[in-house]
Amino acid sequence: MSKNHENDYEYGKIEGCAEIAIRILQGFEKKDKLTLDNVLELLGASEESRSTFAPNVIGEQAPGQDTKIGIGSQYIDIKDCFNLAVNVAREAGAFFLNSWQDNKEVNEIRAHDIKLRLDVQTQELIVSRLGQQYPMIPVFGEEGINDGAKTSEFRWVVDPIDGTVNFAFDIPHACVSIALQKRIENAYGTIMGVVYDPFFDEIWTAAVGFPTQLNGKKIHVSQRAALSETVVSIGFAKLAENLKISMEAMTQLMDKVRKVRILGSAALDLVYVASGRLDAYVEAGVRLWDIAAGGFILEQAGGKFQRSLLPGQEPETYKLLASNGCLDSELRPLLGSRFDD
Ligand code: IPD
Repeated sequence: MSKNHENDYEYGKIEGCAEIAIRILQGFEKKDKLTLDNVLELLGASEESRSTFAPNVIGEQAPGQDTKIGIGSQYIDIKDCFNLAVNVAREAGAFFLNSWQDNKEVNEIRAHDIKLRLDVQTQELIVSRLGQQYPMIPVFGEEGINDGAKTSEFRWVVDPIDGTVNFAFDIPHACVSIALQKRIENAYGTIMGVVYDPFFDEIWTAAVGFPTQLNGKKIHVSQRAALSETVVSIGFAKLAENLKISMEAMTQLMDKVRKVRILGSAALDLVYVASGRLDAYVEAGVRLWDIAAGGFILEQAGGKFQRSLLPGQEPETYKLLASNGCLDSELRPLLGSRFDD
């Protein structure tokens, strides 16, 4: 190596690497978490070249991109899981859409809820398809939880028909929701989400290292920061105590936002916020399968997904405040401590 390092190829490489490391570390401070896309952005890659490097899951894998992840003894290929979940969500959506015109057989009916036989049949289809390829990954689903889904290293979180009441009443707003979660110490974190609306043939996808896409095109949350210009969705769950919390939120919000909406599918509410169609979504009483995929898809699209467990209710029941990330200072004081983390 020459003394002043001029024209020194090896030194130039080291200097280049150091510069890249500094840019990544500086960027890390500004970002909540680093994804492959963030790192490429920090390195100055154009949006076009980034999307080539981190392509749509349905497309080709970038050369050299390692998509295997794991802890302990289990390794899975995130890209394989992603493609599988996309195919299974499409098949399940087509399956329940096929029964749209039929008489819908009701399995159970309660004050504010309906469970259809089709919910169970759709979950059976999903469990069987996922299990054919990944028999070691259990399913944590609305219509049944496999043994091991509370302790396994990975698990699928599935809502076969999110928006069942809509479907039962012939309102075409329902979807399939599939998330993949990885165990991290005593909790689970979502690493992949797929939400499919068969009525509009719209599929939202995101995974660690892959940006949120709607039908293969990268999407982002809205930039609306003034509450008065926003459209906010409010969910009304099943228990009286949760309905009361949502009602209070609606009373606070309805004259301060452009419009309040009640759409009836938590997963679609979340991906609509991810797509900028809605600016925020609030509900008390959602279950994990309603929100695991949509919440992750929203975060990967730049949004904020804040949830906390509701004590004294069924396991994995949450209150949540999801938004484009620009509205906290106005939204939080209005909703009060009920929606704090
Ligand atoms: C319901 C829907 C609804 C929400 C309820 C959920 P399901 O899920 O997501 O929008 O308000 O809290 O339980 O029962 O249709 O799968």
